[in-house]
Amino acid sequence: MIYVIAGARPNFMKIAPFLKELQQKDIKYKLIHTGQHYDDNMSKVFFDDLEIPEPDVHLNVGSASHAFQTAKIMIEFEKVVLKEKPMLVVVVGDVNSTLACALVAKKLNIKIAHVESGLRSFDPNMPEEINRILTDQMSDFLFTSESSAGINLKREGIDQNKIFFVGNIMIDTLSMFLKKANILKAFEKYKLEKYQYALITIHRQSNVDNAENLREIIKMLNYTQEKTKVFFPIHPRTRKRLKEFTLEKQLDSNIILSEPIGYLEFLNLMINSKLILTDSGGIQEEASFLRIPVLTLRENTERPITIEKGTNEIIGINFEKFKNHLDEILTNRYKKGQVIEKWDGNTAKRIVNIIKKKLY
Ligand code: UD1
Repeated sequence: MIYVIAGARPNFMKIAPFLKELQQKDIKYKLIHTGQHYDDNMSKVFFDDLEIPEPDVHLNVGSASHAFQTAKIMIEFEKVVLKEKPMLVVVVGDVNSTLACALVAKKLNIKIAHVESGLRSFDPNMPEEINRILTDQMSDFLFTSESSAGINLKREGIDQNKIFFVGNIMIDTLSMFLKKANILKAFEKYKLEKYQYALITIHRQSNVDNAENLREIIKMLNYTQEKTKVFFPIHPRTRKRLKEFTLEKQLDSNIILSEPIGYLEFLNLMINSKLILTDSGGIQEEASFLRIPVLTLRENTERPITIEKGTNEIIGINFEKFKNHLDEILTNRYKKGQVIEKWDGNTAKRIVNIIKKKLY
């Protein structure tokens, strides 16, 4: 029996193709949802869009501080594992659910596979960086999405035989659902025109929990709105902070706001956008694959391939840099991007083949 863990929005697109592959190969698994994200538009819509089966177990942990949330996931997950010791726990990405479940498995001597292993921002202030480093230290199978990840893991002393360069599993999902997303015309629903808008996603703790940074980002969004339409679906953390810092009114009233958006609609909105401004990790990759210009409002990225080969540039909170790149994009002088190795829709297959060979 394999346990597959998912808890927060960016996990769901990483488990969908993996579960499909397990089903096809007749490998028994249980899906455990930690409940780190619980609103319909942060969780259920992704299960529906991505045709993910109902979780076998729901831990219902909800939101809390880092320590409380991580600890609660551990307590609840340990109860489940103790009833039926699985042979492998598969965790994906870098959220608190990833670290919490890996730690429980390790202490119970259960093997761990980490999908999207080895990515490093080298920024210890990022909660995700701590989750990534610690999960990798405990894992038995480290599945990497780009070449920098393998180099990082070797530097941290991880045994080479545990590292498998399999490619990017989110690109499996994207390739699988591209056609379906393409016919949706979600952009019309929000009164947007093809290639005539910027799509925004901002939720990173370092950006939105800091009033100064959030104010600078609003300045960038307002500037963009002067040049082209801006569409901004708002993450719950961001909405909360905008309210708390009374910054809502500072957003240009022409910017179109919405609640968080499901996978298929969002993919449709990406495909039809002129550019994307984000602080998400996954969107840097998806935009690079789709060859859409993406400016990342962070000081670093744990996904350097998206800059080397993709369509990503790191902007930080630097308004001048932002203006220059925005101008390049709007006058079609921005880089076009290249094919990225093993981002080909076959990552889940590679992972399941390796697991099968090593464990069965
Ligand atoms: C988490 C991940 C982050 C990921 C992001 C994607 C960690 C440390 N962070 O950050 O890496 O990029 O998810 O969304 O695991 N909330 C709701 N409804 C929900 C979930 C959350 O309203 O369904 C609100 C709550 O007020 C909560 C806040 O959002 O306190 C933050 O949620 P949390 O899961 O703590 O962190 P994220 O910022 O979502």
